[in-house]
Amino acid sequence: MERSDRYSGISTVNHWITVILVIAMLVLGTVAGEATSEAAEDYVIGVHISLGFFAFLFIAWRIGYRLYDGFQPALPGSAAERRIAFVVHRSLLFILALQVITGPLYLFTEGESMNVFGWFSIYLPLESLAALHEPAEEIHEIIGAVVLPLLLILHIAGAIKHYLGKEQTEDS
Ligand code: HEM
Ligand code: HEM
Repeated sequence: MERSDRYSGISTVNHWITVILVIAMLVLGTVAGEATSEAAEDYVIGVHISLGFFAFLFIAWRIGYRLYDGFQPALPGSAAERRIAFVVHRSLLFILALQVITGPLYLFTEGESMNVFGWFSIYLPLESLAALHEPAEEIHEIIGAVVLPLLLILHIAGAIKHYLGKEQTEDS
């Protein structure tokens, strides 16, 4: 039977588009960080920034929709699992918001623009906030390299445990 307290179709589409965008952003950011030449790094980070423009728009829409539509109660599980799911879901959205803000902030506070696939550029004159340049870079790197991967491991492990538990319940 369909449960009325689960996420809507729009939420599900939002979820999986976010998965594709966020994984692509993580891979591009990490590959740029590991690049062996400056030309390769510039090329990959250029793609990261271009796709980042769409990640910014989509994540803003997705967070706005979640605030409007609300979170559903956590899926059945132990009290600890439900608590972890509660915190992880909210933290994921919060740090994704930080990530798509610190990326552009890092560029604008250095006087650089966001070039989107050579189609157009976006620039906000924020050089006067140069003091935020280094912190924005640090936050962006720590989230991208540590916090986001850790949260995703927890989240995906929780989802797998949930699906496996569901299968056992359906089998019995
Ligand atoms: C980049 C990767 C991912 C991100 C950023 C992410 C983010 C989120 C967020 C924020 C929620 C809370 C509801 C919402 O606002 O949509 C959620 C729910 C959920 N995610 Fe993910 N997710 C990711 C990957 C995955 C993967 C790979 C799976 C499956 C293996 C998965 C399974 C689920 C499930 C089942 C729920 C709903 C839980 C419920 O109904 O309470 N997610 N996800
Ligand atoms: C979901 C969104 C995003 C994710 C997951 C993400 C992830 C990452 C990662 C993993 C790195 C490499 C960090 C390292 O060197 O260890 C990085 C670097 C970078 N990202 Fe993002 N990013 C996102 C959004 C954005 C956006 C919207 C921009 C827009 C301008 C951006 C601009 C940059 C820049 C310029 C760097 C290089 C920083 C440096 O040279 O130190 N990112 N990102």
